Amino acid sequence: MDNQQTKERIDRRGFLHSAAAAGAGLAFSPMVLGRTGTGKKPDDINVALLGVGEQGQVLMSACLKIPGIRIRAVCDIWTAYNQKRVSRMLGKYRHEHNTYVDHKEMLDKEKDLDAVIIATPDFWHAEHAVDCLNAGLHVYCEKEMSNTLEGARKMVLAAKRTGKLLQIGHQRRSNPRYVFCYENLIEGAELLGQITAVNGQWNRRASEPLGWPKNSPIDQATLEKYGYTSMQQFKNWRWYKALGGGPMVDLGSHQIDIYNWFLQANPKSVIASGRTNFYNQKTHEWPDTVMAIYEYETARGNVTAFYQTVSSSGSGGYFENFMGSEGSLIISESGNRCEIYRDERTAPEWDKWVNDGLLYKQCECEIDCLEKAKKECIEKCGCPQIVERQTGAILDVRESPPPPKYDLPVAMNKKPHQMHLENFFDAIYSDGKTALNCPAEIGYETAVAVLRVNEAVEAGRKLSFKPDEFKI
Ligand SMILES: NC(=O)c1ccc[n+]([C@@H]2O[C@H](COP(=O)([O-])OP(=O)(O)OC[C@H]3O[C@@H](n4cnc5c(N)ncnc54)[C@H](O)[C@@H]3O)[C@@H](O)[C@H]2O)c1
Repeated sequence: MDNQQTKERIDRRGFLHSAAAAGAGLAFSPMVLGRTGTGKKPDDINVALLGVGEQGQVLMSACLKIPGIRIRAVCDIWTAYNQKRVSRMLGKYRHEHNTYVDHKEMLDKEKDLDAVIIATPDFWHAEHAVDCLNAGLHVYCEKEMSNTLEGARKMVLAAKRTGKLLQIGHQRRSNPRYVFCYENLIEGAELLGQITAVNGQWNRRASEPLGWPKNSPIDQATLEKYGYTSMQQFKNWRWYKALGGGPMVDLGSHQIDIYNWFLQANPKSVIASGRTNFYNQKTHEWPDTVMAIYEYETARGNVTAFYQTVSSSGSGGYFENFMGSEGSLIISESGNRCEIYRDERTAPEWDKWVNDGLLYKQCECEIDCLEKAKKECIEKCGCPQIVERQTGAILDVRESPPPPKYDLPVAMNKKPHQMHLENFFDAIYSDGKTALNCPAEIGYETAVAVLRVNEAVEAGRKLSFKPDEFKI
């Protein structure tokens, strides 16, 4: 492909032409500019936190960094621990707030709220989100949208009916590195050529079931009122069939969402194996080891997409790997990992993209040459087959050199959840003119794709999706 063709390919999409432009786009988001960009500061947004366990506290910390967000209410059934801890922390940050056990009481009494952030266990999401939307509030609800499709459907319908915003917590959708990869590399430059296969995983080392401080349990009547049989089940809800969706839904939903986004398609079929290979099925009802294969038919051709989650080995951690005829992309939220490889035999030169600031080229000795000593590094690595380390000694002669490796010119100066929350608040400030990065309809499509894996495991055969299953 010559330069002209490459230029046309990139202009056709009208995407951001350089890293500088991409950076500017992010830097001028209304949230960063004090929301309006005009100097006029609108009223603060009053927020309630519903569910303040592990993730609720991550979201609270993110909110504390966002100007104009006032946390006015905290609702959590674990009064003696999570609720108390969060309330104390908010006091330190001078967020005057009330505390509640029951969300209905909170909605009844708090008349000054604008939005609710929901981070309760998955089986509560539908009821919590629908009640909050019906109360006229905007909702940010953690993934998985719901543990049932029926619940997820009710959430979409409630958002449509009330006209309120419903953002689902697939935070990678607001991660500038993911956005950059999709908009500029996959769509804009079509850097990977035709994507034909995807491979992703989330593997975690074995762990003991979650415990709790023995001096501050929830009383049995309260546990049962809110759907839990015991503290053990309350803490480890993810593993129970009535409460969560197991690792495939808990972890896989983040990544299957990326498959659908980057491929701009929903799957046509899925086949899966799921077994309990390590834990005790009495305490771990969902399979701890799941491997699934999706088939997609995208606008650019067929794609086969593998996904695995293993809960007894952290091998390889978590990432998504998109494989195309001209290159491949490995991306992860973990450590901002991103590796882009050019297929030397089929891809046109990528120097243009490096010169335009779209990619960083990493040299073979893996010194961060652009940041540090580009010239010196290029001199050292003149021959791609000789790896000369910083000592100057020639250590290794590679018979088969690895493919050229590239990185992104996009830095991450905030935590991923903060950016997704900022997108939600921007949408509120702009009266919906700023689009949500993961509205209910998108969350629903992901829920359909992910929940079907557990069905395929049960069925023990390949299951198909009809296109209209993804729509409401
Ligand atoms: N986006 C992400 O990266 C991410 C990461 C972790 C968890 N999550 C999601 O966040 C949600 C919460 O997960 P977690 O790890 O914080 O769980 P958790 O068990 O640590 O916290 C849940 C909290 O909700 C409270 N709660 C339970 N039922 C309630 C009810 N009916 N009313 C009010 N409070 C109630 C509990 O007391 C607890 O404090 C889940 O949906 C999970 O999938 C998302």
